[in-house]
Amino acid sequence: MRPNLTTDFLVIGGGIAGLMYALKACESGSVTVLTKAGSTEANTNYAQGGIASVWSVDDSFESHVQDTLIAGAGLCDRAAVESIVRDGPDVVRDLIRFGTRFSRIEHGGEDEYDLGREGGHSHRRVLHAQDLTGQEIMRALTEAARRHPNIRTLENHVAIDLLIEDSTGGSPGACWGAYAYDRESQEIGRILARATILATGGAGKVYLYTTNPDIASGDGLAMAYRAGAKVGNLEFYQFHPTCLFHPAAKSFLISEALRGEGAILKLPDGTRFMKRYADAAELAPRDIVARAIDSEMKRHGLDCVFLDLSHRDAAFIRSRFPNIYSRCLGYGFDITTGPIPVVPAAHYMCGGVMTDLNAATEIPRLYAAGEVAMTGLHGANRLASNSLLEAAVMGRRAASASAKMLGAVAANPPEFPEWDPGRAIRGEERVLITQSWDEIRRLMWNYVGIVRSDRRLARALRRIELLKEEIHSYYWDHIIDSDLIELRNLVTVAELVVRSAMAREESRGLHYNIDHPEIGGPEWLRPTVLRR
Ligand code: FAD
Ligand code: SIN
Repeated sequence: MRPNLTTDFLVIGGGIAGLMYALKACESGSVTVLTKAGSTEANTNYAQGGIASVWSVDDSFESHVQDTLIAGAGLCDRAAVESIVRDGPDVVRDLIRFGTRFSRIEHGGEDEYDLGREGGHSHRRVLHAQDLTGQEIMRALTEAARRHPNIRTLENHVAIDLLIEDSTGGSPGACWGAYAYDRESQEIGRILARATILATGGAGKVYLYTTNPDIASGDGLAMAYRAGAKVGNLEFYQFHPTCLFHPAAKSFLISEALRGEGAILKLPDGTRFMKRYADAAELAPRDIVARAIDSEMKRHGLDCVFLDLSHRDAAFIRSRFPNIYSRCLGYGFDITTGPIPVVPAAHYMCGGVMTDLNAATEIPRLYAAGEVAMTGLHGANRLASNSLLEAAVMGRRAASASAKMLGAVAANPPEFPEWDPGRAIRGEERVLITQSWDEIRRLMWNYVGIVRSDRRLARALRRIELLKEEIHSYYWDHIIDSDLIELRNLVTVAELVVRSAMAREESRGLHYNIDHPEIGGPEWLRPTVLRR
C-alpha cells in the first residue's frame, strides 16, 4: 500500500453494493475500491436464489410492497419499501447492461427471463442465474469495474477505522476516508477521500453456524458505530432455515428456491410438519420456517430435519439447481432421489448503519449501502431476495448523491496523523485471539439465536463485556493484523446485537423472546436505535 493515497470516492467493500456505487461514481471522479480478501470474496458471490423485482405483467409494485411489509412484521418504513421496490426493474436492467446473464426460459413460444418463487412472495419475481446468481453478478460487475480507467481495486486491504474530522458546534465532523491495513505488506496507510461509502456486507461470523463467508465480520457496522453513527434494528438477525447438515459442508446453503419449486420439509420418519405452523407451509416467511424447524428439532431431540424435492423431475432439478445438485452429490446426497438433512444458520443482518433514502448516514460524506446499512426496507424480517435488490438500488443512489456534493467539499483535508503503533509488540499467542473468537460465536449461537430469553441475554451481555475489555487491551498492546481487526469488530457487533435484543421486550419478526412471547403494542412500532 502506498501511504497517504488520495481518491475522490473511497468504496469500502467490493460486493454488489460497492461495485454498483463504483460503476456510477466513476463517471464523476477517481474511485478506489477496497476488498479485504480477493476481489470476488463477498456474500454477494454466494447468493443463490436471485434478485427480487417486479418483472412480469401479472405482478405489480403494490404486490411486491405488500409482501415486503408483511414479512417485515410492522417495522418496515413504507416510504423506503415503495421507493426501493419501484427502482427494481431499472436496477435489474443496469445489471444486465453491465453484463449479468440471468437465466432465460421459453414460455408460450417466447424467450423470456425465468422468474423464481421464494417464501413470502405472492408472485414469481426472482431473477436468477440458475442457482449461482451471486457468482454471475460478481463476474459481470468485477469485469466492468476492471475495464474502467477511473476505478482502482485494492485487494487484501482491510479498512480499520474511518478518518473523521473533529466536530464543530455540536454537529458531527465529516468523513475523509479511512485507515487501511495491507495484508501483504502488513503496512497501515491513510486513504483520503472526498466521499466514503461503507459497503462491507453483513456479520454472520458473529454466530457459530452461518451461511456467510469469512469476510462477514461486521467491520463496517463497528467502524460506523465507533465513528458516532446511529445503528438500528440489530436484534433482527435472520436465520436461513435450510443449510446442508454435514460436518464438511460449512453451512452450505440450500436455496429457498427449492421450496419455491415444491420442496417439502420433513421429520426423519417422513412426516410433513410446516402445515402445523403456517397456512403457507414451506413458503411462509423465513422467521416462521426457521423457528418451526428449531422447535421440531428441540421437541424430538433431532440434529436436523429433512428437505425433499425428489418428487420433481430429475432432469428439471439438475438444470434448475446444478450447483446445489452437484455440491450435495459430493457430500453423498442425491437431491433427485431422496431427502437431504438441513438445519438453520445465521444468514442476514436486517439492521445496520441507519441511512436516508440516498444512503447518507448522519456523518457528513459517509454513506452506507447493502447489508451493512439499514434503510427501513426489511423491518423485523427480510423478504427473500430483497437484499440484492436493496444493495444494488442503494449503491447506485449513494453514488449519485456523493457525486452531487463533491464540488462543495473543501479542497484541503484536515491533518490526520499517520497510524501510530505506539509501544505495541507482536502478538505471539494466537490462542488468545482464537479463544475469544470461538467464545463470542458460541455464546451468540446459544444465547442470542433463534429463540432468546431475558436470562440468556443478560448472561450473554456479561460475558461479552468481559471479552470486550480483554480484546480492547490486547488490541492496543499488540501490532495489529486482520484477525485482530476482525475480532475487535466482532465483539462490538455481538454487544450491539445483544443490547438491541434486550431493548425489545416483545416478540416480533426475527426476534423471539420466550419471556415476552407476544407481539407488542404500538409503542414497539419503532426501530431500536443505538449510538456510541
Ligand atoms: P458483500 O457482498 O458481502 O460484500 C462485502 C465486501 O466488503 C467484500 O468485498 C469484503 O471484502 C468487503 N469488506 C468487508 N469488510 C471490509 C473491511 N474492513 N475492509 C475492506 N473491505 C471489507 N440475497 C438475495 O437478495 N438473494 C439471494 O439469493 C441471496 N442468497 C444468499 C446466499 C448466501 C449463501 C448468502 C451468504 C447470502 C445471500 N443473500 C441473498 C444475501 C446477499 O447475498 C447479501 O446481503 C448481499 O450480497 C450483500 O451485498 P453487499 O454488497 O452489501 O456485501
Ligand atoms: C436463498 O437462495 O434461499 C437465499 C435467498 C436470500 O437470502 O434472499
